[in-house]
Amino acid sequence: MKNLLIINGPNLNLLGKREPVLYGSNSFSDVLENIRSIYPDASISYFQSNDESELIQALHGASANGVVGIVLNPAAYTHTSIALADAVMAIDIPVIEVHISNVFARENFRKESYISKFAKGVIVGFGVESYRLAIDHFMRSEN
Ligand code: DQA
Repeated sequence: MKNLLIINGPNLNLLGKREPVLYGSNSFSDVLENIRSIYPDASISYFQSNDESELIQALHGASANGVVGIVLNPAAYTHTSIALADAVMAIDIPVIEVHISNVFARENFRKESYISKFAKGVIVGFGVESYRLAIDHFMRSEN
């Protein structure tokens, strides 16, 4: 069993209700159920918070829980949080940054990410499929 962790940042608890044109109409529990059914050999835990410090704590605590790969959608903190970027840099677990929407096709402030530099890779704009693509990478890689 590979222990993987998906972390969602602020406002992603509203997935399915929030701007469905941009973010789709599925709730994250639907998305997670689907991903878990595709990868029965993975143990995929999930954490969401609207609070920057809780997201940082989740990153810090991941290795104690045996997590070997993290899929992180930092949401708006992508564009603002040096503290979250430092946490990604500080931990030894590879982090894939994901975005549901194509942030490069939106407002200019969404084109900057503090996180990307410290991420193993970035998956952007494939809708909620972005999460599955990141999990797929971890399932195929040695890490
Ligand atoms: C997002 C893009 C961010 O710019 C935005 O603040 C979000 C969601 C995405 O998944 O497309 O909350 O991370």
